[in-house]
Amino acid sequence: MKALVYHGPGKRSWEEKPKPTIQEATDAIVKIAKTTICGTDLHILKGDVATVTDGRILGHEGVGVVEEVGQGVSSFRKGDRVLISCITSCGKCDACKKGMYSHCAKGGWILGNTIDGTQAELVRIPFADGSLYRVPAGADEAALVMLSDILPTGFECGVLNGQVKPGDSVAIVGAGPVGLAALLTAQFYSPAEIILIDMDENRLGVSRKLGATQVVNGTDGKAVAKVMALTGQKGVDVAIEAVGIPATFDICQDIVTAGGHIANVGVHGKSVALKLEKLWSHNVTITTRLVDTVTTPMLLKTVTSGKLQPRQLITHEFRLDEIMKAYDTFGNAAKEKALKVLVQGE
Ligand SMILES: NC(=O)c1ccc[n+]([C@@H]2O[C@H](COP(=O)([O-])OP(=O)(O)OC[C@H]3O[C@@H](n4cnc5c(N)ncnc54)[C@H](O)[C@@H]3O)[C@@H](O)[C@H]2O)c1
Ligand SMILES: [Zn+2]
Ligand SMILES: [Zn+2]
Repeated sequence: MKALVYHGPGKRSWEEKPKPTIQEATDAIVKIAKTTICGTDLHILKGDVATVTDGRILGHEGVGVVEEVGQGVSSFRKGDRVLISCITSCGKCDACKKGMYSHCAKGGWILGNTIDGTQAELVRIPFADGSLYRVPAGADEAALVMLSDILPTGFECGVLNGQVKPGDSVAIVGAGPVGLAALLTAQFYSPAEIILIDMDENRLGVSRKLGATQVVNGTDGKAVAKVMALTGQKGVDVAIEAVGIPATFDICQDIVTAGGHIANVGVHGKSVALKLEKLWSHNVTITTRLVDTVTTPMLLKTVTSGKLQPRQLITHEFRLDEIMKAYDTFGNAAKEKALKVLVQGE
């Protein structure tokens, strides 16, 4: 079969690989119908993720058709159409029993990381019963691809951890796919204000269409002053960090109001200075989280009913054998005006 393979920092190729086979009774083999590229795949290509080694097939998102199941898989059989979660869950370990699938003793984020991923014609999914979801009849499968990672990430790490409530003022720093997923799902709770902060005018324009009440371009380094002005110098109840650099976490520390929440979503590669001299007396909560995908069944219902419409995040479409080109487009997101690229198998 063909697959997108990582060969060390800056090197990727579309090449022939052996077809995956069942290794454990709880495995399933899935034929990829649709996949996409994540910001995290770009982090990997920069060499930021040390666990990914030469020869690894990338990708942790997708929808497909079950080709084969091991004897221990009870919920799926050949021919079932399935959504693949970016998080693999055994369902039995202490972390899984707590609903913290991201820290599953035998799973967690392994796809396209420590085992081969979804940017291929076929993928092996360990613990298939806990890691796949049945595609509802008549569902828009392109929209469902957004449920593998970005929607549960924006929702769980941003909106739920940030405790967004009706009437709240919310600021989301970073209008990439993850920040926009937080924007879409924050609206379940009817906050009064949602302010999106980015440096990309196109993404800020998309944010307005998707429900942002205000947008702030932070290119001039004045994002904090602008957010304070928009909130009558009070600051926001919830500040969601969806970039992953010190500058944007700093913005969150400077705009959160007393009693508020900073919900970190971004993957950080450097330490960030905690402004405890200011925050200690402000009754502020800071949370971190690796997405658990524990809300996927709920989000699946909201997408199926049309309440949540993540298809709006797809800006480009490619065939699976054009995935090298899809990477070029996604890697130049600002110039190409790209958000999510949909990559279609046969
Ligand atoms: N916690 C988790 O489980 C989890 C899961 C998936 C992704 N992530 C992380 O979430 C983050 C966002 O993901 P994404 O795919 O949306 O990334 P992205 O790179 O597409 O989006 C980041 C956005 O931040 C903007 N930005 C950069 N610097 C800025 C600045 N100084 N001020 C304002 N805006 C700035 C960029 O213009 C871009 O639009 C990444 O760090 C990603 O690795 C975390
Ligand atoms: Zn991802
Ligand atoms: Zn587990």
